[in-house]
Amino acid sequence: MDSVVKDVVVVSLIGTQLDYVGKRVDRWAKWRPNVSLCSQDDLVINQLHLLHDNHSNRLANDVTVDIESVSPETEVSLHSVNFQNPWDFEEVYAKLFDWCLQQDFDTDKNDYLFHITTGTHVVQICSYLLTESRHFPGRLIQTSPDHNNKNKSIGRIQIIDLDLSRYDQLATRFDVEHQEGKEFLKGGIETKNKDFNNLIGQIEKVAIRSKDPMLLTGPTGAGKSQLATRIFQLKKKRSMLKGTLVSVNCATLKGENAMAALFGHTKGAFTGALKARDGFLLTANEGVLFLDEIGELGLEEQAMLLHAIENKSFHPVGSDAVVNSGFQLIAGTNKNLKEEIKKGAFREDLLARINLWTYELPALKDRKEDIPANVDYEIELYSQKSGHRVQFNKEAKSRFIGFAVSNKATWSGNFRDLSSAITRLCTLADSSRITIADVEDEIEKLTRAWSSSGEQTHTDILNSYLSTEQIQQLDKFDAQQLSYVLAVCQRHTSMASAGRELFDVSRTFKSQPNDSSRLQKYLNKFGLKWRDIRSID
Ligand SMILES: Nc1ncnc2c1ncn2[C@@H]1O[C@H](COP(=O)(O)OP(=O)(O)O)[C@@H](O)[C@H]1O
Ligand SMILES: [Mg+2]
Repeated sequence: MDSVVKDVVVVSLIGTQLDYVGKRVDRWAKWRPNVSLCSQDDLVINQLHLLHDNHSNRLANDVTVDIESVSPETEVSLHSVNFQNPWDFEEVYAKLFDWCLQQDFDTDKNDYLFHITTGTHVVQICSYLLTESRHFPGRLIQTSPDHNNKNKSIGRIQIIDLDLSRYDQLATRFDVEHQEGKEFLKGGIETKNKDFNNLIGQIEKVAIRSKDPMLLTGPTGAGKSQLATRIFQLKKKRSMLKGTLVSVNCATLKGENAMAALFGHTKGAFTGALKARDGFLLTANEGVLFLDEIGELGLEEQAMLLHAIENKSFHPVGSDAVVNSGFQLIAGTNKNLKEEIKKGAFREDLLARINLWTYELPALKDRKEDIPANVDYEIELYSQKSGHRVQFNKEAKSRFIGFAVSNKATWSGNFRDLSSAITRLCTLADSSRITIADVEDEIEKLTRAWSSSGEQTHTDILNSYLSTEQIQQLDKFDAQQLSYVLAVCQRHTSMASAGRELFDVSRTFKSQPNDSSRLQKYLNKFGLKWRDIRSID
């Protein structure tokens, strides 16, 4: 194939200034991009597609005549493409894009070049994008005046093949941008967990490219609120929005005030409404509205919110007039909204609207490899806030990290627990050194806190998997044991590893420990399957 000599086909635009023919005689002494392109000794152009607008018909014809005289082998064809505003990127790109789509490019027969030259940077950028994205299946050819050549009309040419690896650095620049965005979202804390890093990578892309709602799920303290703030800041840094961040915890919006707080109200809309007020939705105009714990929002407010997202407008309480507000919604929840829909507590249509970009932040116990870096980060944070530097001694640090990454540490409050633990350690440390005794104390505190919160969630766990009727039919003994088993199952990603923890002693007496099937048999007694447990989590 490669041995076949292909025709050289160039696409070029007429430049009203540089290509201008002017007074007939001096025109040959001038550098004119399109004529010079066709005057090159070592480049034979077989076809030249000249794009020009309606005002330049005459110029295009004159240039064609001159090209034919310097390069009889070039067949020039004229195409009329009108730019209302040649400095408008969107318009120029769209028209060139459409023009490319209409062409029947035959890359087996032809070698395509897109001509870029001085003074046409809008076209340069658009043709770069079209070539890079392969909508134009060729290379770029750049012409410029050559001040060293006595014959001014010839100029220089350079062919730019974007497929060559040296142009990868152009693409790499974009990668650097992405990398910076990801680091920013992670708050500069080094993270090793692969799933978490993938998650952040995706969130970064969506944050930069989309204005659609986002839903951040995950247990309390996993970092949803913090991430929402960082997404907002990243968008702001990249000049993607003008407005502010309005953060609202929906759990605090209860009763009749909820509507007015969200959507605003008129003066006298209800008793106590002495003045008209903007609601959160209006304050978030052109910015981000972060609705934390969206699962706590009342059904009526949910309906209004859905309407407001879809129409970018709503009625304040007590008002007939419509208020407009365009904001990006980020919602946070630690509830399973599908379960809430089943209970009739959450609107299915609202979930459908907000779960286009849903991201589940992992619990800290599922990111144990990231604990050491986060401990350092929290220590640093404490030093900055308090103005004095506290450090672990070596043994104390390894004891704390050892505990923190063990199965004994459930980190049920996630980063919030880690942050409190470090704050306590730093505050109580004498002479700015955290000792092993300090760490032992703290481990005891954490363990106690986690076991008492365990009792509290005992019925919550059963409620997640069984109906009230089923629970009422359980003996206290079974209820205790089952909730314990379920809690262990929630912590594991496979039935085999959950089984290993549950049967840790008896399995050692068996010649073939069949942890999974023992666990499944136990769950069967209550009509439960492993799949059900993992799908709720
Ligand atoms: N990725 C993280 N690394 C370290 N600390 C974090 C991280 N995300 C959140 N935090 C800290 O943990 C605490 C809880 O985070 P938050 O965003 O309020 O969690 P959530 O909204 O999921 O309950 C905050 O003090 C926050 O500064
Ligand atoms: Mg939160």
